[in-house]
Amino acid sequence: MAIPQAVKLVEVGPRDGLQNESAPVSTADKVNLIRDLVDAGVSYIEAGSFVNPRSVPQMADSDQVFAGLKSNPGLNLPSLTLAALTPNLKGFERAMQAGVTEVAVFASASEGFSAKNINCTIAESLARFQPLMQAALDQGVAVRGYISCVVGCPYDGEVTPQQVDLVSRALFDMGCYEVSLGDTIGVGTAGHFKRLLDYLLLHTSADKLAVHCHDTYGQALANICTSLEYGIATVDASVAGLGGCPYALNATGNVASEDVVYMLEGMGISTGIDLDRLIGVGQSISDLLGKPTNSNVGRARSTS
Ligand code: HMG
Ligand code: MG
Repeated sequence: MAIPQAVKLVEVGPRDGLQNESAPVSTADKVNLIRDLVDAGVSYIEAGSFVNPRSVPQMADSDQVFAGLKSNPGLNLPSLTLAALTPNLKGFERAMQAGVTEVAVFASASEGFSAKNINCTIAESLARFQPLMQAALDQGVAVRGYISCVVGCPYDGEVTPQQVDLVSRALFDMGCYEVSLGDTIGVGTAGHFKRLLDYLLLHTSADKLAVHCHDTYGQALANICTSLEYGIATVDASVAGLGGCPYALNATGNVASEDVVYMLEGMGISTGIDLDRLIGVGQSISDLLGKPTNSNVGRARSTS
C-alpha cells in the first residue's frame, strides 16, 4: 500500500488534552486555543465533550465553548470541522443545542475500560449509541467512532485484534463514517499495530480508519509511521502532547501534534498546517497551564 500524500490531522488537544488537566482552564482560554489552532491551519478540531459533567468537570462548559466559537466570525470556515464527544442521546441533544455539526461516540475493545469509562458493558454502550445514531442520521450529522484500548487495557491487559474488529464492525454497521483506533494507554508497538491492521483491513478499508496514539511508552510516532504504510491518512494528535484519560491512570497525553506534523513534513506528506505557528500554540497553552510542553519538537524549537 502506498503511503498517503496528504494526512488529515484531527486535533484533540482541546478535548482529550484539557479533559485531563487538573488546573481549571477558562472558557475564554479554550476558545482562544481553538482559534489559534485554526489560525495555524488545523482544519479538524475536537473542541469539547458532552459527557456527564460530574464525570469530567473539565468539559462542563463545552456548550459555552461552542457558543464562543460560533460567535467568532473567523471560525465560520466551510473547511473547518469543530466536533464533540457524545456518549449517549442526552449528550447528542446537548451538542445539537450548542450548534455542534459533527460528533463522536466512544466505545472500548475491552470490558474493563468500558465499565470504568462509561459505566456499562461494550454491548450496552453499542445499544446506547443506537438512538444517538438514528437522531444523527435524521439530522444529517456525521458521527465518528472511537475504540479505546485497541492494544492493551489498564484493567484487562492484552487486547486482541479480533476484539477490536468486533467493535469496529458494529460502529460501521450503525453508521460511523470513520473509526479511530485508540491506544489509550500507549502500550502498542509497531508490531502490535501491524498485527491489528493486518486483521482489520481484511474487512475495512484504510480510508475509514484513523489512529489515536497516546505516547505513554514513546511509541506513538513509530505506530503512526506503521499505520501510514497501511494507507491510513487520518491521525489524531494533541498540541503540546496534552492529554490522557481520567479513567486510564498513568496514561500520558496523545502524541504531540507538532511532532506528527514535523515527521510528516520530513516524509513529504502535506497536512496544510503551519508548523511554526503550531509550535507557538503549543508554547502558549503550556505557558498557560504552567507546565513544560510534551512535544519534542516544541522543546527543541523553544524560544523561552
Ligand atoms: P451513567 O452514570 O451510566 O449514566 O453514565 P446514566 O444514564 O445512569 O446517568 C447518570 C447521571 O448522568 C444522570 O444525572 C444523567 O442525567 C447524567 P442524575 O439524574 O444523576 O442527576 N448524564 C448526563 N449529563 C450530561 N450529559 C450527558 C449525560 N449522560 C448522563 N451526556 C456516562 C454514563 C457515559 C454518561 C458517564 O459514564 C460519562 O459521562 N462518562 C464520561 C467518560 C469520559 O468522558 N471519558 C473521557 C473521554 S473518552 C477518552 O478519553 C478516550 C478517547 O480519547 C480514545 C482513547 O484514547 O482511547 C476518546
Ligand atoms: Mg484519547
